[in-house]
Amino acid sequence: MAQPTPARPDRDWWRSAVIYQVYVRSFADGDGDGTGDLAGVRARLPYLADLGIDALWFTPWYLSPLKDGGYDVADYRTIDPAFGTLAEAEKLIAEARDLGIRTIVDIVPNHVSDQHPWFRAALAGGPERELFHFRPGRGDHGELPPNDWRSEFGGPAWSRLPDGGWYLHLFAPEQPDLNWSHPAVRQEHEDILRFWFERGVAGVRVDSAALLVKDPRLPDFVEGRDRHPYVDRDELHDIYRSWRTVADAYGGIFVGEVWLPDTERFTRYLRPDELHTAFNFSFLTCPWDARRLRASIDETLTRHAPVGAPATWVLCNHDVTRTVTRYGREHTAFDFATKAFGTPTDLALGTRRARAAALLSLALPGSVYVYQGEELGLPEADIPRDRVQDPMYFRSGGTDPGRDGCRVPLPWAAEAPYAGFGSRVEPWLPQPADWPGYAADRQARDPGSMLSLYRAALRIRRATSGFGDTPLTWLPAPDDVLAFAGADGLICVVNFGDAPARLPAHSRSLLVSGPLDDRGRLPRDTAAWLRA
Ligand code: GLC
Repeated sequence: MAQPTPARPDRDWWRSAVIYQVYVRSFADGDGDGTGDLAGVRARLPYLADLGIDALWFTPWYLSPLKDGGYDVADYRTIDPAFGTLAEAEKLIAEARDLGIRTIVDIVPNHVSDQHPWFRAALAGGPERELFHFRPGRGDHGELPPNDWRSEFGGPAWSRLPDGGWYLHLFAPEQPDLNWSHPAVRQEHEDILRFWFERGVAGVRVDSAALLVKDPRLPDFVEGRDRHPYVDRDELHDIYRSWRTVADAYGGIFVGEVWLPDTERFTRYLRPDELHTAFNFSFLTCPWDARRLRASIDETLTRHAPVGAPATWVLCNHDVTRTVTRYGREHTAFDFATKAFGTPTDLALGTRRARAAALLSLALPGSVYVYQGEELGLPEADIPRDRVQDPMYFRSGGTDPGRDGCRVPLPWAAEAPYAGFGSRVEPWLPQPADWPGYAADRQARDPGSMLSLYRAALRIRRATSGFGDTPLTWLPAPDDVLAFAGADGLICVVNFGDAPARLPAHSRSLLVSGPLDDRGRLPRDTAAWLRA
């Protein structure tokens, strides 16, 4: 059972934290209506405490028409009634805190919902128009979009209004982009940060953090130009410096969603007076390959060192293909551009690799993100086309399968209806027929399950000091084996090659992701934690 452990008091908790991502809609259904909610999360806090995580990151839980799963916020100061109430959110934050778990909320500064009062007032012709990017169209009759920018979800990044004007949306048309050169936009977001810090949250995830600022001329996108018209503009850093002073007043932290291939540009967001951390997508997208992963780890650590920020290690989230499915495919890298329906996968292979990858990422210096269901080894689900909800599918004209496959309601109890998700009616996304086999209650009784592996690893991690800032030392190993020493004499070895690998000298074996061979060697796609 969960033992109340006081939240780690040290101010630097975030440098080595294990942070569990809750996609509220799919975590647990407390009121039985088919949609996950805060009551569901509160009921499962003991499970999360048992798992041994340090913090929860909640995807947006605010009032929203849910055109993009809540990333279309209509009001930051109201919880969506589908999820609960503000009073419940406050209780949840306090209850988690009593169990030693901090809370991180998600802020989406690039855009709001088209149902946000600002956008509605703008459409009604009010001065709020200046808070967005409205422009006349091109062409003889203004029938063409103002520039050639594409929405991240496919199609043009502009939609036309009945009055003939156009507005910018880098995502869905229901997510109009805010104009970050307007002081009211800055003021409002700093107030939102204060609002949530005052309710006891320990941190804020910053959605699409590198997209907020646009070239004021809104020029066409020209490949190879020096500065992208809306990605990674230098003016962003001033915004985050200002946010940092707000967070510092509460001891709060930030984690930025910064998708940038250039790791030097990436770590600029992590300078000491900007964001504390950012998701490591170069690690997430990396194929299951010793050389490539080692290069990614080295580059990550080398780039983070000069700014003094800890690295983060992420294998999946609510936007990408689930790890066991991806690692079981022929091509194990993740790329939005190549997602397709029906890509074959070998789940036994993918699961073996995901187990090894869990031990790899949990042994690296820095903080680690675990996406709900990752600890259960859930695969990506195939969603029937007539049940798909994600705008990415619709905006791609039905070629991109979208992101629903990693957002399926969790299986909690093998014998209960809807695998124990808690619903009395069919959940908002259908669960695959084999979902009960992954149920948390079944896995809790099985020492060989993914859940037991995560629990054991997190127990060891909690009991070992120095995970955040102990530098990693590579140990001699064959090319397709990664071996390194980390915090407090912990050695992590991962074998990616066909030949079984001999374990480095050690005093004790702490945890293995799969059985050793009969000569005590580490088989392919297996990891071990050893004590030097
Ligand atoms: C981020 C979120 C994603 C959302 C998008 C638009 O990438 O992770 O889920 O669709 O931003 O807000």
